[in-house]
Formats: sequence, structure tokens, C-alpha cells
Amino acid sequence: RISGVSLRRVLDSRGNPTVEADVLTVSGGFGRATAPSGASTGEHEAIELPPNEAIAAARKHAVPRLVETVHAGNQREVDAALRGADGTEEFSEIGANSAVAISMAAAKAGADVLGAPLYQHLGGAFRGDQFPVPLGNVVGGGEHAADATHIQEFLAAPVGAPSVAEAAFANAAVHETVGDLLTERGIPAAKGDEGAWAPAIDDSEAFEIVAAACDQVAEEVGFDISFGLDIAASELWDGDAYQYGETSRSPEEQIDYVAELVHEYDLAYVEDPLEENDYEGFAALTERVGSEALICGDDLFVTNTERLQQGIEQGAGNSILIKPNQIGTLSLAVDAIETATRNGFTPVISHRSGETEDTTIAHLAVATGAPFIKTGTVGGERTAKLNELIRIAEDAV
Ligand code: PGA
Ligand code: ZN
Repeated sequence: RISGVSLRRVLDSRGNPTVEADVLTVSGGFGRATAPSGASTGEHEAIELPPNEAIAAARKHAVPRLVETVHAGNQREVDAALRGADGTEEFSEIGANSAVAISMAAAKAGADVLGAPLYQHLGGAFRGDQFPVPLGNVVGGGEHAADATHIQEFLAAPVGAPSVAEAAFANAAVHETVGDLLTERGIPAAKGDEGAWAPAIDDSEAFEIVAAACDQVAEEVGFDISFGLDIAASELWDGDAYQYGETSRSPEEQIDYVAELVHEYDLAYVEDPLEENDYEGFAALTERVGSEALICGDDLFVTNTERLQQGIEQGAGNSILIKPNQIGTLSLAVDAIETATRNGFTPVISHRSGETEDTTIAHLAVATGAPFIKTGTVGGERTAKLNELIRIAEDAV
């Protein structure tokens, strides 16, 4: 049983405050987890409260429901108590940031009690041995960097990598090569919130550079490296059209544009190609290119099983991004993963632009056999997850 929950404000990778939770059990188990935070958040996400408010509300409503009553090892019980304590659909009472930090910390305490690694506790004895391919953000802009590309993320996808370690190092090599190519062209570049290069170039030049870097590194490492995109189209959408600086695209033009990009660059992955309520547009694009690329809903689905169900019914996409803090608990995230998998949708476990050294998502990806994880390429809060995957791979094989 849980004997104590403590909550504090700590720093995230942007220097913003975020919620950290410690969960202790009567038998001496301990777990600590920290909530991440988005910048290009979907309008249907669970609510993130200012950390001070989230902590105060969770101390008042959630902690008394957990302590001395709930078992840390029973994740469904923990997460049901959090939902009961909050009482709203979108965690607006205690904040999804408090909820997800406590949910993840309880999972770690439950694993600690068993003396098992978190992925094993979450995945159980019938877990497979699939490791996720890391999608690595190498160039980006949008809400993650000012005056950079309109497309939010260009993601290296080392689909041919023989191991998660080789995949992670390949992504780092693509990141470095992109940096070299930018320097050769005399283009200065800082890094955005997720560590990707954020040069002031057109999207078309970014495509050229990323394609060249992926090819160059693929040649060096001897396996296939594709790439993909997070268009984060809700951020470009003005209610009538998608605005790319001087260029404006109607929804139909946007579908044509993305389908052409998939063909021209042989893209493996496209996230949020259309705005967050356009199920029909997602369905039209999926019908055109869904056999060639993953069409992934992030802001469309927000890790919400009901929204995913609608997508499954309409054929809107063939993949879902999974961010536990979009929905507030690990149980709800696992529900979305399981619903996706049962219906042929590929789950992609994901970080947020505001991150911490927490590694829960690496364990969640291994536990659920998710084929992909999107967790950046460089920077300590990103490599924390990649390095954890490398360690788990050593442990698990
Ligand atoms: P966010 O962006 O964490 O800023 O929402 C990540 C994404 O859109 O995938
Ligand atoms: Zn996204």
C-alpha cells in the first residue's frame, strides 16, 4: 500500500516549473516521476494547471485517497483513485500534470516493491521482445523555435537499424551531418526546444538537407534511414487554410502537398498533416498514402481512446501518438495503445517539447511493444530516454 505521496516543483528542459511526485509504499517501495509539458498542445488534451495550483489541489484531493488505501502495484486502482479524486473528464481539478506524475511515480514504486524493472512491471511476463525504433527530431521550427521551418519537426527514422542503440547513434549522426551541411551552406542555426536544428530556411531546403543527411549516414552505417515529419498542422491552420508564410494551402491542397511529399521523399511517417478536428481530411490522405507511410494523429487523438475510436471508424490515419500527460494516467495511455494495436493502428510513444530526465516513456514503449518512440536526438532530457532504451536492451536480451 501507498504510505506517502510528496509533490514538488522542479525545472523542465525549458526552465519552466513542472510537477514531480514521489510515491512511497508501506513495504519500502519508492518511485519518482516528473510531468513533461507541451508547447504545441492539442485543444482536446487533458488540462495542465500551473504547477503550484496542481500540487495544492492534488495534496488536497488526491493524496488522501491514495495513502493507506491503494496499492502502488495495482496501476488501475491508482489511476481510478486519481480520476475519482479529480472528478472531471479532463483533469481540470488536480491537473493532468499532477495526475501523470503521481501515476508514473506509483508505477515505479510498484516496480520497486517487486524488485523488477519498470518495463517488466508494466509489460508483465507475456511481454514480447520488440524494441521501438526511435524517431529523431533533427530540424524543426513551428512552435518549438522562432523564425525556422514552418513544419514543426523533420524526424530521422532509422527503420533498418539492427538494434535500438545503433538506431539512436544513427539519429545522432544524422543530426550532426545536418549541422555540417548547414555550416557548409553558411546557414547559422541554433537549436529549438527539442534539440533539433532551427535554421531560418524554407521547408523545401530543409527537405533537401535532411534527405541528403539521411542518405549519407545510411551509406556509412549500412542500413536504411528514412525520414518523417510532424507537420503540427493545427498551428498552421487559420480556420480556412494552412499558412506557410507566403504560401497558403486549402485543405484539399494540403492533402495533395503531403501526398506528394510522401512520394517524393519516400517518407515513412507523417504526424498531424491536417488540423486537429479534420477526421475526413485524415481519412482522405490515409486512403491515398496510408499503405506507404504512417499517418499519425497527435493533436487529432490526444491519446484519448474515444477520439481514437472515431478515427478507427473513419479510417482517419493508421497511427496514434501516445503522450501520457495528454490524458493524465498510464492506464488511460495503455488503453489507447491497446485499442490502437487491436485495430491495426501503430502506436508511437512520445516525449513533449518540455521534458525532464524522467525515463518512463522508454519503459512504456518496451512494455507495450510499441514499434516507434519519438524522443528527440540530442540533449540530456532526450538522451535520458534513449540511453535507458540502450540499458533495457542489454538487460532484456
Ligand atoms: P509539444 O510538441 O510537446 O510541444 O506539444 C510535440 C509534438 O507536437 O509532437
Ligand atoms: Zn505532434
